[in-house]
Order: sequence, then structure tokens, then C-alpha cells
Amino acid sequence: MRIDLLTAVPDQLRNALDLTVFRRINDEATLHIHDLRTYSEDDHCQIDDYPYGGGSGMVLKPEPIFRCVESLGSSVDEVIYLTPDGELFTQSIANSLSLKNHLVLLSGHYKGVDHRVRDTLITREVSIGDFVLSGGEIPALLLIDAVLRLIPKVLGDTQSALEDSFQDGLLGAPTYTRPASYRGLDVPEVLQSGNHLKIAEWRDEIRQQRTRERRPDLWKQYVAHA
Ligand code: ADE
Repeated sequence: MRIDLLTAVPDQLRNALDLTVFRRINDEATLHIHDLRTYSEDDHCQIDDYPYGGGSGMVLKPEPIFRCVESLGSSVDEVIYLTPDGELFTQSIANSLSLKNHLVLLSGHYKGVDHRVRDTLITREVSIGDFVLSGGEIPALLLIDAVLRLIPKVLGDTQSALEDSFQDGLLGAPTYTRPASYRGLDVPEVLQSGNHLKIAEWRDEIRQQRTRERRPDLWKQYVAHA
């Protein structure tokens, strides 16, 4: 998979990338960061301007974004804009994006982006939650993390990605490791039994119970689709 990330603050992103999960990017996935300023058509490398009609904040200009996306060629599967008014990001969106070969992500900044970009260039708008961040960079990194770990050989252990909370609409089961008893707290006996059938039943039961208690919204969906 190839991911191209368009941003007004490439240095912030590169610093964040050095610090995080993205060391795992290898031959299976490449990430290219594009500084929108490089695609500006004016002498001052301006990429934002005042909003028509007035209002606070600056708006990302359309030209650098069009130029950048068009320079990426026809292999692009999706051009995703990170924005608080997009579709709420879920595991199911991560799953479907992980099947694509070439993603382009546009991180919004300032007051947003000229709406003509959204109307014509963007194929999908994604929000990471009902709160507003100062830019779309962290949302983009979050999306990339969730998608890349689903690609075989990127995570190293695809089975464990498939067993995650949310993969089948239920929260995960509690996990334990040795010692079997610590400060009077015991690992559930069934997990120590070696009986795989019983363990699977226990996990299934407790996952349903936790989902019912903690996330009634997910539980409702789970029951409706069962
Ligand atoms: N940009 C600012 N806030 C955001 C959010 N919640 N999701 C996606 N992009 C954003």
C-alpha cells in the first residue's frame, strides 16, 4: 500500500512519525508526506487565504491541493479528508481502507479547506470523533495506524489484529499473564485449564457481557446483526 499525506505542517508530522508506531512501515507500505507549500503557484508559497464572506480563520486554497493530488497519478483509490464533520471512523472503515492500494489523505488546518476541493477531489470525509482538534494531522496518523496494522506483514501478527476488539462488533476479553496469583488476585481458573473449548466459551460470554455493560450502543448493533 502507498499512502500520500498532504499537509500544511510537514515538519510536525515528520517529528510525530519519528516518535511513534510508524517505524513498522516497511516494504509492504510506504508513506509519503507532501508539503502543500511546494505545490503553491504563487511566489510567496501561500497556501491559505481569508474566507469569502468574512469570518475568523484562514482557509486552505484549492490550487496547491489540486496540483498535489493530480501529480499523484491515476492509481489513487481514495482521497480522504480528515474533518470533524466527516463520517465517524470505525474499525469497519479501517478494514475497507486496508484493502486499497493507494490512499491520499488531506489534513485540514486553519479554518478548513476551500469547499470546491471537498466537492470534486475528495472521495471520503472522515472524523475521528465528536470533538475538534487544531488540525487533521493527528487524525490522519490515527487513521494510518488503524489501517496499516491490518495489512499482513506490517503488523507481523495479523491474527492478533483480526482478534481485536471491534473486529466482530464486540469488545475484547480480559487478558492475563503470569504469575497465576498476584497480591491475592487470581487469573480466572478456566484460562489456566488448558481446555480450549471452555476458554473460547468463557471469552465469548465475557465479551458479550462487557459490551452490554460498557457499550450499549455497540451491543444494540451486534444484536441487530446477529
Ligand atoms: N480535524 C479537526 N478535528 C478533527 C476530528 N475530530 N476528526 C478529523 N479531523 C479533524
